[in-house]
Order: sequence, then structure tokens, then C-alpha cells
Amino acid sequence: MYFCRIQFTNFRFVNTLIMKKIAIFASGSGSNAENIARCFLKSEHLNIECIYSNNADAFVLTRAKNLNIPTFVFNRDEFYNSEIVLDSLKKYDIDLIVLAGFMWLVPDYLVKNFTIVNIHPALLPKFGGKGMYGERVHKAVVESGETHTGITIHYVNEKYDEGQIIFQADCPVLPGDSPYDVAAKVHELEYEHYPKIIERLLIRN
Ligand code: GRF
Repeated sequence: MYFCRIQFTNFRFVNTLIMKKIAIFASGSGSNAENIARCFLKSEHLNIECIYSNNADAFVLTRAKNLNIPTFVFNRDEFYNSEIVLDSLKKYDIDLIVLAGFMWLVPDYLVKNFTIVNIHPALLPKFGGKGMYGERVHKAVVESGETHTGITIHYVNEKYDEGQIIFQADCPVLPGDSPYDVAAKVHELEYEHYPKIIERLLIRN
């Protein structure tokens, strides 16, 4: 009996030491990518292995360099018609793919092989789908007279913004708010919640 308890304790101890490996995909500025990376910088359980981008000029690549995170840039043909991205993700032994402002539809081979999450800057199913990204979303929210908007963190499937919702948080849209004002509020929600949800998904204690 005593022996069994030691075994169990040892198992738990080893388990908490396993590092979960994250890949971030981003196409543009990458403020969410940087925020997530900074939150996990000293984590003993979570590590950003690599930041992937379809845009060689994306500012997220500069952010990655400043944080000493490896980067991987690919073009459309490589993404949809080759396995170089898949091979790279397998090489890093990635546990979770995090989309943070990634503009392209995720191909089937990634959806089938990995757990993937995305953050959308509105309360899905409203203001989602193809072409609904960045400022366009906030403009549509303001023009439609919504009194609330927010963020949606969801699993990614083969369609834009249609995977199962994991978490939502909202904020008010006040009379006179511009799309820029709304974007600022939404970004605050993103910075607060995305790292926490990622951590909760990967570390189930
Ligand atoms: C965020 O608003 C996110 O919700 C959306 O794209 C935007 C990316 O912003 N998917 P940033 O590049 O992280 O600043």
C-alpha cells in the first residue's frame, strides 16, 4: 500500500514537469502573439516553440526575433500544396496551434493532425465568416448599432469561424464609439483572456 502511494506521487510529479509546446500562427502586427509569448516566458509548463507566418513582412516576425522565438514563413503554395508546415510542426512536437490574427483558412491536414484554437474579435456567430477580420469587424459592429461586442475563443475546423466556442467575453459599445475605440476595448479583452484560456486548455489540474 505504501509502495503504491509513492508510485502515484512520483507519477504526478513527473506529469507536471512535461512542457506543453505551442505554435502561434499570425499574419500581421502580432500584438496577441507577443502578449501570449510574454505571459509564458517564464512558464515551466508552456513554451512557444515557433511563430509561423504567411507574410514575410509581418511585424509579428520582428516581435518574435526580439523575444528569441524561432520563426517559420511560408507562401500559399507551400501551405496548401506541400507538407513543409506539417513537417515543421511535427518536428517541434506541437501540442496546440494558436491562431492570433492569422488570415488564411486552415487546411484539412492541419485540422486533422492538431488541436487548433482561434480568437475572433466579436461575439460569434455574429460578425464572423470569410472577409470578417480586423477593422472590418469593428466597423460592422458600429454600423449595425450593436450595444455590445467582445471576443470569441473557439476551436478551428475547416470553415471560417465555425468551430466549437470555448469562451466569450463582452464589452459595451457606447454611443459615439468609433471602430478604433471598439478595437481598443476588444484588444484589452484579448490580452486578458487568450493566455488564460490557452493555459487552461493545456494544463488540466
Ligand atoms: C485580433 O483582434 C484577433 O482577434 C484577430 O486578429 C487581430 C490580430 O491582432 N483574429 P494582433 O495582430 O494580435 O494585434
